[in-house]
Amino acid sequence: MEFTTIKGFRDILPDEISYWQFLENEARKLFEVYGFKEIRTPILEKTELFKRSIGQETDIVSKEMYTFQDSKGRSLSLRPEATASVVRAYIQNRLYQKGGIQKLYSIGPMFRHERPQKGRFRQFHQINVEEFGDPGPITDAEQIIMIMELFNRIGLSDDLSLNINSLGCPRCRPSFREKLKSYLENKREELCSDCKRRSELNPLRVFDCKVESCKKTLQDAPIILDFLCEDCKEHFSSVQKLLNEFGIEFVVNPGLVRGLDYYTRTAFEVLTEELGAQNAIAGGGRYDGLVKLLGGPDHPAIGFAIGMERTIELLRKKRRIDERSPDLFIAALGEEARKIAFSNAIRLRKKGIWVEMEYEDKGLKAQMRRADKLNSKKVLIIGEEEIKKKNAILRDMRTGEQKEIDLNRIEVEI
Ligand code: HAM
Repeated sequence: MEFTTIKGFRDILPDEISYWQFLENEARKLFEVYGFKEIRTPILEKTELFKRSIGQETDIVSKEMYTFQDSKGRSLSLRPEATASVVRAYIQNRLYQKGGIQKLYSIGPMFRHERPQKGRFRQFHQINVEEFGDPGPITDAEQIIMIMELFNRIGLSDDLSLNINSLGCPRCRPSFREKLKSYLENKREELCSDCKRRSELNPLRVFDCKVESCKKTLQDAPIILDFLCEDCKEHFSSVQKLLNEFGIEFVVNPGLVRGLDYYTRTAFEVLTEELGAQNAIAGGGRYDGLVKLLGGPDHPAIGFAIGMERTIELLRKKRRIDERSPDLFIAALGEEARKIAFSNAIRLRKKGIWVEMEYEDKGLKAQMRRADKLNSKKVLIIGEEEIKKKNAILRDMRTGEQKEIDLNRIEVEI
């Protein structure tokens, strides 16, 4: 019997790991200069946490969660996203008592039982950013500037577009909701069965529908931007002004509602045309009411998540990120030379030099072939003659140059 991964889950193999590490490293470096610190939360949480924060009527909660009961009958779920968990951790660990702004990021797997397709998996990874404590538009703009800078640094900025919208606040959204609801009631016959249900329970979700007839029905629907209260309007216009000031291009898309219920005010998505139907590579926004909703203080918050699989797929299309290769391959000829090679390998690795060697008794040709395959930058040849002179031959594999060196001076020479 051969065991394989389950549907929608996959191995990330050594061949592609250089892309993953590159993306993670660039994100960490950038987030740190913006003052973000890493947080790691559990993958498993109480189901209720996700129901309360993401929303009962969202696709994520109503059909995509991996939920099961443990032996005590408690309902647990694999996290479908990170925001709910980070907010829980913020409240549970009283991070707000530290005062000021809390800036957190995390990287890890998420789980959604969606129909797998290109760019859509059941286990996928996100780079996730959350910031607590600042209600102002500068923070919104700053996060958007930061995420676009990350895409710029990794060389993807030409392939992406930024969509933004404002989803209003509890003061102005209800009137939009009512207006949308009555619009949808009149168009009920044109809606798919999912949207018929959504239009009653959570009408904003209709904007997420992928069914063509529903999309068409929405073309003349009321838009949230016409319903924003003065404060939300001003907030949104300040965000746009700042983005313009810093040369960030964007499109205001009033149909952008995000698939999670906790958002307020600014919402944004980074899209690409290169990946087919799964075109969102990142998304986020403000969620000023969530900390309080989950039992914490009334603290505003904003964040985003980058889909790593999609970003990496795009990276692989656009550029090559070379795998690391050994600094040195030691080709030893004969038992005695192998012993010397081995102790030198251990010594050099302590100094941070990547050394490979052959442990079996093989000829020079075979060893050179292996050094070549490993793409080693240099090869050190140690034979009987060389041992007598306490010397070795160092060959530069790029230029083909060779020279005799003192065995004690290897690290200086490379
Ligand atoms: P989201 O839009 O649900 O937001 O997910 C963010 C990104 O994760 C998407 O743009 C996409 O790139 C990636 N993604 C989502 N589902 C899948 C999947 N099945 N397979 C592959 N990639 C996927 C959130 O999760 C929010 N928690 C973001 C946020 C953080 N908002 C505030 N803070």
